[in-house]
Amino acid sequence: MTSAPAAPAAPATANTALTVEKVGGRIGAVISGVRLGGDLDEATVSAIRAAILEHKVVFFRDQQHLDADSHEAFARLLGTPVAHPTVPSVDGRYALGIDNDHGGRANQWHTDVTFVPAYPAFSILRAEVIPPYGGNTLWSNTAAAYAELPEPLRVLADSLRGVHTNDYDYAAVRPDAPSEALEQHRKVFTSVTFQTEHPVVRVHPETGERTLILGNFLQKLTGFNRQDSRALIDVLQSHVERPENTVRWQWRAGDVAIWDNRATQHYGVDDSDDHERTLRRVTIDGDVPVGVDGRRSVLLAPESVPEPEYGIASGASTDGVLAEA
Ligand SMILES: [Fe+2]
Repeated sequence: MTSAPAAPAAPATANTALTVEKVGGRIGAVISGVRLGGDLDEATVSAIRAAILEHKVVFFRDQQHLDADSHEAFARLLGTPVAHPTVPSVDGRYALGIDNDHGGRANQWHTDVTFVPAYPAFSILRAEVIPPYGGNTLWSNTAAAYAELPEPLRVLADSLRGVHTNDYDYAAVRPDAPSEALEQHRKVFTSVTFQTEHPVVRVHPETGERTLILGNFLQKLTGFNRQDSRALIDVLQSHVERPENTVRWQWRAGDVAIWDNRATQHYGVDDSDDHERTLRRVTIDGDVPVGVDGRRSVLLAPESVPEPEYGIASGASTDGVLAEA
């Protein structure tokens, strides 16, 4: 869709009424007065970007006008869209399906795609069909979780590194899922097995804040046995999951949520029974995390991120990280 040429000083949408209202004390804000699309003016885009960086996740109501094209066009105002490294898109381009009918419900705390080095900076999720109840999503502020750690634990966390992988035990995660759907999802999701070592604490490239890189793709801390590793991860992760660091969103069709994937984890609650829940996600390219000590994340396997069917893959912009490995 192309919009007709407009006078530069008079954008088609009136975005002067943009307001940002906090939903939670530490995370989340609702942005009103904006009609999302690829034609937003620069001032509006930078106001949205600043709100995402400050509040970690922002919500927009009533964006039913968006379709796959305008969703992607808006996403391009925040950066470069990237494809999921293994799961094919639903539109042949960048739209990833988040549907509850294929075994892909994300009812675990995670940060998107942390099994590759340069995992996405932003995710933009648009609700098409919402169940009559349930199916909420929770987000947590991983900068706030880090900041509230007792000093000795922060010092320890600063020195840790952990290995993230997309190959984990799906059956243990979703014991009630129909085995066929589960198996199919697992097959696609793990068609290539990735392993990436990240610092547990990264320095945010835009805000300078320290944030925790944990979540369900994290398998093991480097240099620890499995038992100690699990115990340490659990202690750190418990701060991420504290209700004070989270916000919970009750979706309506037409809602859009945008989160800073470098400063959050999220959790899709799987409690809407067999009702349809259909969302579309476009992710924006990130950069390779840098730890407090200046060490960067490293792709351990495979040797490079394979090219997807369309465009570039999330994490493909390794930016020299392989040469250091
Ligand atoms: Fe996710």
